[in-house]
Amino acid sequence: MKQDQLLIEVKDLKTYFFLDEGTVRALDGVDFNIWRGQTIGVVGESGCGKSVTARSILRIVPKPGRIVGGEITLHRQLDAEGNGGRTEELKLTQLDAAGPVMRSIRGAEIALVPQEPMASLSPVYTIGNQISEAIMLHQGVGKEEARAKAIEMLDLAGFPKPKERIDSYPHQLSGGLRQRAVIAMGLSCHPSLLIADEPTTALDVTTEAQILRLMRSLQQELGMAIMFITHNLGVVAQMCEDVVVMYMGRVVEEAPVDDIFHNPTHPYTQALLRSIPRLGQKTQERRQLESIRGTVPDPYSIPTGCAFHPRCSQRIAGVCDKAAPPYIEVEPGHKVRCVLYGANGA
Ligand SMILES: Nc1ncnc2c1ncn2[C@@H]1O[C@H](COP(=O)(O)OP(=O)(O)O)[C@@H](O)[C@H]1O
Ligand SMILES: [Mg+2]
Repeated sequence: MKQDQLLIEVKDLKTYFFLDEGTVRALDGVDFNIWRGQTIGVVGESGCGKSVTARSILRIVPKPGRIVGGEITLHRQLDAEGNGGRTEELKLTQLDAAGPVMRSIRGAEIALVPQEPMASLSPVYTIGNQISEAIMLHQGVGKEEARAKAIEMLDLAGFPKPKERIDSYPHQLSGGLRQRAVIAMGLSCHPSLLIADEPTTALDVTTEAQILRLMRSLQQELGMAIMFITHNLGVVAQMCEDVVVMYMGRVVEEAPVDDIFHNPTHPYTQALLRSIPRLGQKTQERRQLESIRGTVPDPYSIPTGCAFHPRCSQRIAGVCDKAAPPYIEVEPGHKVRCVLYGANGA
């Protein structure tokens, strides 16, 4: 996939939750870019800020959370067709989250496939109704055309017998079929970016494999970018071209997928790799956690300096606990936030 056009720029993004107990700095300066057509994996242990990143991009951070700093820029294509068309830069962070522009982006330009399909489906409407509604809302077509399009999308998402089963209610479907319906809904407006937030975590291994295969083929066919969020590096290896590794609200490493697996630089990435579950096996986040020394610290009190230093086997006393390391490019396209690779480092 040609990666020469920026789609999303995330710069120094900070999203905090203001609770009575204290402030959770869920995102504390997140930086990465998404290019048109790129499949980018976002990995890290539970609680590191993957879903909050997705929700910040979509501007659906729930209260008492708020974006308090940084920028998200969408390079929106103005011409419907083709590459190389004109784009406009939209600062998503400056838009009214509930306003018309953001609503026109959500579900159309950027779609979300969540972990639990029922988070996007209403139990009281048929899936056909819900997909058609989304199509009518964003594409201004009539009811019949929207229904025909919904059938087409269900078919594309590998939903069996869509013509006959389009009027099913979500509870009449298996988890795998519900997720296919959500994917169909997500694709129905031809998004430039599909954000899949642990889309297979709630599914059994066989269904997981089918859904992953489906997403890969859809990506190739439709050419959209996919931001694939997972705690499972095995899934990343199958799905992604590039990987962003997050730890405690920050990106600690970013690289092409081969580099992440063969030349990981951040000690946290190295630890994550040692804890990879075998392919085909359902992952257990707890087991992953156990195989990395210590546990994720309390989100109210992120350690000073490098947030990973209390768990890091390569930490340098008096350095890593003092100042946050800079984000350094060790090779073109490979960045790491660790003093071991600083100007004076290895
Ligand atoms: N609605 C919320 N209220 C308070 N804190 C939240 C909320 N959602 C997320 N957080 C906090 O933000 C941090 C990142 O969460 P999240 O992005 O969901 O992690 P994950 O990487 O597992 O998706 C966690 O410390 C979590 O407790
Ligand atoms: Mg999550």
